[in-house]
Amino acid sequence: MYELVANFPQQQFHFDTGRALAERLGYPAVVLDRVPAEAVVSFAGVGYFHDLAALRPGERVLDLGSGSGMDSFLAALDVGPSGSVIGVDLTPAQVEKARRLWEQLATEEIGSVQFREGRIEDPGVPDGSIDCVISNGVINLVPDKARAFAAVARALRPGGRLAVADIVSGVQLPDTVTCDASLWAACIGGAMQQESFLDALTAAGLRVETVRPNDAYRFLSARAVKATSKYGVTSISVLAVRT
Ligand SMILES: C[S@@+](CC[C@H](N)C(=O)[O-])C[C@H]1O[C@@H](n2cnc3c(N)ncnc32)[C@H](O)[C@@H]1O
Repeated sequence: MYELVANFPQQQFHFDTGRALAERLGYPAVVLDRVPAEAVVSFAGVGYFHDLAALRPGERVLDLGSGSGMDSFLAALDVGPSGSVIGVDLTPAQVEKARRLWEQLATEEIGSVQFREGRIEDPGVPDGSIDCVISNGVINLVPDKARAFAAVARALRPGGRLAVADIVSGVQLPDTVTCDASLWAACIGGAMQQESFLDALTAAGLRVETVRPNDAYRFLSARAVKATSKYGVTSISVLAVRT
């Protein structure tokens, strides 16, 4: 599904994509104008968190599930030439597209950006080397969330932040939803109950500071809408600090 999001973003998915989605979620239009339109068109995130991340010049950022690179590029603009961004994604087509777009964007005013093919459960960065981890719409896709949050905690320096937007559910989802591969890929099937999501962050050594609903996020297909309204599946943005 995410190979299609990279290469054929105009297709109809269970979920929204692209610039209209980004603007609806809160990305300022003037900021989106600063990154390649091809990255924006393949944006498949579920919320806005850059205000929570509050990136500063010189910071080192890790984008987990970086897709076609939109959030990585925005982060690179914020951290400037002395900062750096590493994006990790498991879909080769997303990584290839993000690398190609970075070649077009790279200038002296922007931080260095590197895209790696890999799994967020093992992002391959040295322990404590990251000031801020960002991630948009990806944790729900990972079967072992505790492992993903442990990887975040290891990557962050003490006091470092996690700014994430993701899908959570109001109740524990039944097997009919969690075992449906297309609902899983649509960011619904793997959604963790919100309370368990926040507890898992705390258990990994992260102090939750802000939890904000992303009311503007919605699913599209009738099947996705039915599952989300029945089980209270919704999007939140969270800021958490490494203790
Ligand atoms: C909903 S998309 C979001 C992409 C991007 N963050 C954005 O906002 O456009 C989810 C992305 O997570 C990637 N992904 C899913 N599971 C992953 C994992 N275990 N490790 C790395 N990337 C993963 C997919 O390849 C896809 O690009």
